[in-house]
Amino acid sequence: MTDLHIDIDRLIERLAALAEIGAIAGTEGCARLALTDEDRAGRDLVVSWMHDLELNVTIDGIGNVVGVMAGSTEGAPVMTGSHIDTVRTGGRYDGNLGVLAGLEVIETLRIANVTPDRPLAVAFFTDEEGARFPPDMLGSLVYVGGMGVEEAHAITGIDGATVGSELDRIGYLGSAPLPGAAPHAFVELHVEQGPVLETEGLTIGAVTGVQGISWTEVTVTGQSNHAGTTPMELRRDPGVVAFKVGSFVHELAHELGAPQVATVGRIEMHPNLVNVVPASATFTIDLRHTDNDMLLKAERRTKDFLTAAAASENCTIELRSLARFDPVIFDETVVCAVENIATAQGHAVRRMPSGAGHDAQMLARVCPTGMVFVPSVGGVSHNPAEYTSPEDLEAGANVLLHVMLDLAAT
Ligand code: GLV
Ligand code: MN
Ligand code: MN
Repeated sequence: MTDLHIDIDRLIERLAALAEIGAIAGTEGCARLALTDEDRAGRDLVVSWMHDLELNVTIDGIGNVVGVMAGSTEGAPVMTGSHIDTVRTGGRYDGNLGVLAGLEVIETLRIANVTPDRPLAVAFFTDEEGARFPPDMLGSLVYVGGMGVEEAHAITGIDGATVGSELDRIGYLGSAPLPGAAPHAFVELHVEQGPVLETEGLTIGAVTGVQGISWTEVTVTGQSNHAGTTPMELRRDPGVVAFKVGSFVHELAHELGAPQVATVGRIEMHPNLVNVVPASATFTIDLRHTDNDMLLKAERRTKDFLTAAAASENCTIELRSLARFDPVIFDETVVCAVENIATAQGHAVRRMPSGAGHDAQMLARVCPTGMVFVPSVGGVSHNPAEYTSPEDLEAGANVLLHVMLDLAAT
């Protein structure tokens, strides 16, 4: 069985077919924000492939889709998977690779007439990106019981729609029970989305865990007024508070040093006109660190600065937590399996933490979990230019195949 290997052409064909849905013209990337019409079309295509592979497909109340291949014994499956929603300016590999490589593993086993000892499951989880409906990893969070389904349905997105109504509208409000059954183990293949593997000339990352994530939405309210007539000392300008905070978190991340990162990724001003001092500014702060104490420190420093900046502009602030997840450490047996199998397959491999959030970090709450990373050219992701070479995709999918078989034999 060790000579079993996946068909890279078939995997790339599926990646290309899925990338046509929500394709961003003139690029290789796609826009399939969670629970939009494009997400529905992508889901329909992947579900049709699951049926082609005769998987037993279930959909739960948060729209997670799980396809199961029977094993020679019953019991909890070894699960793989990821997400097929994207950010609005996404690449074709982020998430999609993990799901389609899972289908490729199943197809490889079917063609070779291999029945694994345990069932194998391929899942795609709803709204991993959290770009439309925060928090990120929403579907897998609900799957593991970290949030109730009613609370999740009530979440309002950046366009005012709610998760529950959009799930219903696109036909993915399923009835499989939540929380979902814990798998025997979970392993997710994903592109690194950072520069480490490429820079070090390595093919496989054995992921040791995921850094902590803190997302906050800040609304600053001041006094809208005439840009020409209002003297500077009489202004209450929320835009100034937003710019100062954006600059502060950037400097803070430099001061605290790697792996601290900080991003202001979304900002909206009202009324957003050239000659009007804004009435309000709403923006997001994304802070991440592998050490929870350091993350708490960055959160405290940011809040203190924000409070002082708002006071100095005589503005009021409102904070809303969009996501807060502690750092996660993956299971040593799964990390070892990834490392050993990648090495046995002749790949240069290193252990590394993940900078991005992943569904695996939620599954780690209920079963032994790990991840396989493959290089991202130029470390570029959340960008239509995201790219991973066919050779690296093939290497990652073959590691996934054999890690799953290994875990299914235990
Ligand atoms: C989600 O994928 C994130 O890391 O922002
Ligand atoms: Mn992803
Ligand atoms: Mn992503």
